[in-house]
Amino acid sequence: MTTDPREHTKQTLAQLGIKTPDAIAQEFAELRRQFDQENINFIDIGVSAHDQSAALRLYWLGRKAGILSQITNNWLKTAPPELKPAVGQELNKLKAHIELVLEESLNHFKEQVDLQLGVPEDLSLPGIERAFGTRHLIRQTFEELQRIFTAIGFSVVEGPEIETPYYNFEALNIPEHHPARDNMDTFYIEGARSSYLLRTHTSPMQIRTMEKEKPPVRIVVPGKVYRRDNPDATHGYMFHQIEGLAVDTDITFCDFKGAVEYFAREFLGPKTKTRLRPSYFPFTEPSAEVDATCHVCGGKGCRVCKFSGWIELFGAGMVNPAVYGFVKYDPERLSGFAFGMGVDRLAMMKYGVTEVPLLFQNDVRFLRQFP
Ligand code: DAH
Repeated sequence: MTTDPREHTKQTLAQLGIKTPDAIAQEFAELRRQFDQENINFIDIGVSAHDQSAALRLYWLGRKAGILSQITNNWLKTAPPELKPAVGQELNKLKAHIELVLEESLNHFKEQVDLQLGVPEDLSLPGIERAFGTRHLIRQTFEELQRIFTAIGFSVVEGPEIETPYYNFEALNIPEHHPARDNMDTFYIEGARSSYLLRTHTSPMQIRTMEKEKPPVRIVVPGKVYRRDNPDATHGYMFHQIEGLAVDTDITFCDFKGAVEYFAREFLGPKTKTRLRPSYFPFTEPSAEVDATCHVCGGKGCRVCKFSGWIELFGAGMVNPAVYGFVKYDPERLSGFAFGMGVDRLAMMKYGVTEVPLLFQNDVRFLRQFP
């Protein structure tokens, strides 16, 4: 018997020719099979399952026109007294079955939607632990350098990476066509009105600071600088410097040397010794390269210091009086010292890093070595 349940249950049992409890049980078994079939048809078809489940419930359990109401009216109420208990029992069983199945499939449907849409977060669950990052080796080195200099009264200032030739060169006593511009291959920025460049060193901030502030001046300037170098193991087109400047009425070469020695001991250890080698920078006079005894061998000679016992730290010197002229400082009354350190170089030297690219490739296996 495969008939439309609605049409089928419009007739009474007598009209259907059903006369025994067995026949009744068979009728209900068939109805149950039909319900189950319809239920299976929608159970896995996604979001619209919700509507379909509601439609199925209405069709079978609806008060007015549901199949079960129809059975109550057409079968139960009209059944001869001896068949009523059988019809009643079967009807209750079918109803319980349909309710159970509809509820189950609704739950199943909810799970599916949860899966598709994402379950609301359970706030009682422990949080996801994320690994902490570490400060980059360059950042750590900057912080260490700043700590060393702020401890003796320097303050930290920063300046623009896009500069004018005036601040980057002229006011530092490097006129056009000066050979000192040659070894500072410069990135120029083409502009409509005036020319700009990427600063090749942090020294322009000496000028900017002295223009703005009256002496005494004691500053360090951390920052990025740019040069047109071809990248290799020891060069990039960008690197980091920290500039230093101290100007006052009574600063001598001894103060300069004392500051340099203090720095070397703080940065490389208390036994470190320093020496000054004559050098040349247009903005200092005299100029010096500061060397320190090798932090690896203590000055005996090893591969790190190329068996000389010394390593080159940075360039420095007494501020060239010519520079004061550009910032309207009185060269008769004032004196000072300046220095410029390559931060990447210092970090690599201290921590035994041999390749510049390692610093900027963001490989966590490298970065994690400096927690
Ligand atoms: N600006 C120089 C450079 O980048 C480094 C330098 C040397 C800075 C001596 C100074 C200094 O302030 O006194 O090569």
